[in-house]
Amino acid sequence: MYILPRTKSAATITTTTTTRSRLAIVSIFVVVAWTWPAVCFSLPTIITANRDTHSQDTDATTTSTIASRSTSANMANGPLEETSDRLARWNGRWVEHKLGWHRADVHPCLSKYFSHVTDNCPSEQDKERRAEGLRWLVTLCGKTVDMAYLATREMTAHVVGVDGIRIALDEFAAEHKDLQIGPKTDQVTSANENYEVLAGNKISLLKGDFFALDESATGGRFDVIWDRASMVAIQPALREEYVQTISRNIKKPGGKILLVTIEKRTGTEEGISKGPPFSIPESEVRRLYEGQDWVESVTLLEEIDEFSDANDPEKSKRFISEGVTSMYELCFLILAK
Ligand SMILES: C[S@@+](CC[C@H](N)C(=O)[O-])C[C@H]1O[C@@H](n2cnc3c(N)ncnc32)[C@H](O)[C@@H]1O
Repeated sequence: MYILPRTKSAATITTTTTTRSRLAIVSIFVVVAWTWPAVCFSLPTIITANRDTHSQDTDATTTSTIASRSTSANMANGPLEETSDRLARWNGRWVEHKLGWHRADVHPCLSKYFSHVTDNCPSEQDKERRAEGLRWLVTLCGKTVDMAYLATREMTAHVVGVDGIRIALDEFAAEHKDLQIGPKTDQVTSANENYEVLAGNKISLLKGDFFALDESATGGRFDVIWDRASMVAIQPALREEYVQTISRNIKKPGGKILLVTIEKRTGTEEGISKGPPFSIPESEVRRLYEGQDWVESVTLLEEIDEFSDANDPEKSKRFISEGVTSMYELCFLILAK
């Protein structure tokens, strides 16, 4: 279509030129008459060939545009780079296997308050949820054994763990073969992130930025969010954004957050403010959550003395050497309206 008009205007120019002299007209007439059959037969071929060449060019251009667009989209929207500012420090810890936060056993607050969170179902709505099975979110999950504990509870429908570092998720999969977490990686997408997914028996591990999480990536909101060594792991300036991410992903009404923070209660100013883990006392939990219009209540369930004889003295040594003289784990239950 595009080539035909161009061919017509070339013919018009040739006709105008012939007015200059009779000789020219005769010459042109002779030439045209002589070559006309050849032109008539060859023109469709030329047009078709040109059109084909043009359409091939167009297709090639379109294909390469799509290819480059999808490549750049993947780069822009793929899982947050492990070397990005937000994750580089954590990537280093996983690569060097410096996992001071990791516990070999299930966290005592999770096992102790599991029934409190799941059995205490006063409302009809809660009873219905229990019958369907609970959806758990484990924030900044690392390779915590708590995920295996949750995935193997009868009343669990599904557990989703999110971490930005692939090594963490691969190690968890290798250490919990019974959960049959396959090596195949799928992808799910939130508004701002593409997550790699490792799927297993009642569990999905998402690799990507926690702060971009939404229900289009996770397949729906959560009945319970287990947050241990997670909120304390992020930079204090990101806490409001962290709570917004929790807000986007918790079921309302009736969702529950079981949150464990660390409070460095006494010590030098420098020792207390150093992190991660960053100190989050009760007042800060209340400031962050009680101000939310979707929060029904914030309850402090328990304090655990981290420097007591019952705890591993090796763990305390690091904090004592940093100037901390008393430190507690605080366990909270937060209910959504
Ligand atoms: C202190 S570890 C806690 C792991 C786990 N909650 C536990 O109890 O063992 C913090 C984890 O958060 C991950 N992380 C930090 N920032 C993240 C982010 N923006 N998105 C996803 N994961 C992140 C790190 O890779 C690390 O595994």
